[in-house]
Amino acid sequence: MSTLSAPSVAGDSEFAFAPADFDRIRQLIYQRAGISLHAGKQAMVYSRLSRRLRDTGRRSFSDYLQWLEQTPPAAAEAEWQEFVNCLTTNLTAFFREDHHFHALVDDLRARAALRAARPGTQPLRIWCNAASTGEEPYSLAMTAVEALGAGAQVQLLCTDIDTQVLVKARRGVYDADARGLDDARLKRHFLRGTGANAGQIRIKPELARLVELRPFNLMNTQWSALGEPFDIIFCRNVMIYFDNPTQRQVLERMHRVLLPGGLLYVGHSENFTDARDLFRLRGKTIYERV
Ligand SMILES: C[S@@+](CC[C@H](N)C(=O)[O-])C[C@H]1O[C@@H](n2cnc3c(N)ncnc32)[C@H](O)[C@@H]1O
Repeated sequence: MSTLSAPSVAGDSEFAFAPADFDRIRQLIYQRAGISLHAGKQAMVYSRLSRRLRDTGRRSFSDYLQWLEQTPPAAAEAEWQEFVNCLTTNLTAFFREDHHFHALVDDLRARAALRAARPGTQPLRIWCNAASTGEEPYSLAMTAVEALGAGAQVQLLCTDIDTQVLVKARRGVYDADARGLDDARLKRHFLRGTGANAGQIRIKPELARLVELRPFNLMNTQWSALGEPFDIIFCRNVMIYFDNPTQRQVLERMHRVLLPGGLLYVGHSENFTDARDLFRLRGKTIYERV
């Protein structure tokens, strides 16, 4: 069997990694997470999954894949989750694409004013569905409090397929020089670590309380589990990993869980103008549900 030449990583070949193994991994991550891994990502896959082979005592990628696929689903569930966790890309930052947060302030105030005119209505609901390590969820929470005050009637459901990033998001601990935070926000919304925790910051509990974090796979078909419809969805920098049919499927489901007039915020390189039957462009990478 030939092995892939991925010079920087597989060159030393701790584990045999054949083209057929790479193809199978591409199929499996597509089936499980909707992620389309391009040819040329062999070195990335090798480096990310090698740790799983080491931890599970497998001698080659084909050995690992065979074991994963042949183990009864219930027994292999935890390893499938590790497999997915290894293959997601979790790059994020506080207030990434900050024009969205400026637009959000105006939008939240307008929606809150409408709600105030109709007493007894539900709190505003926001869903952040590629939450990663928490910087985006907490940026949303800070924005809500800054726009509407400490008593903001906002529910923030923040989900991700990757259970490992959610552990970090729940901890809410970051480097004190994390990108995207200015001094005023550091002071208002974070506690500074001292002693052994110097150089670290932790989200204040009153802000963390606004954020509900839980796993959710956008390929899941049980979207009713998300609860009441949302006013706003942040779905940023995840659809870039999906092919066109998968994007369309996710957009149709998001359309169903957004209230009429609800807004969908997407990443800077994501363009859904083809789905104009579902969403119309309302601002820079902001769409309104039709
Ligand atoms: C590049 S990060 C984007 C994080 C954040 N939204 C931002 O823009 O900074 C992409 C996130 O999408 C998540 N993801 C990938 N496939 C997913 C899926 N099928 N369902 C839910 N989340 C997924 C990854 O785990 C990762 O945390």
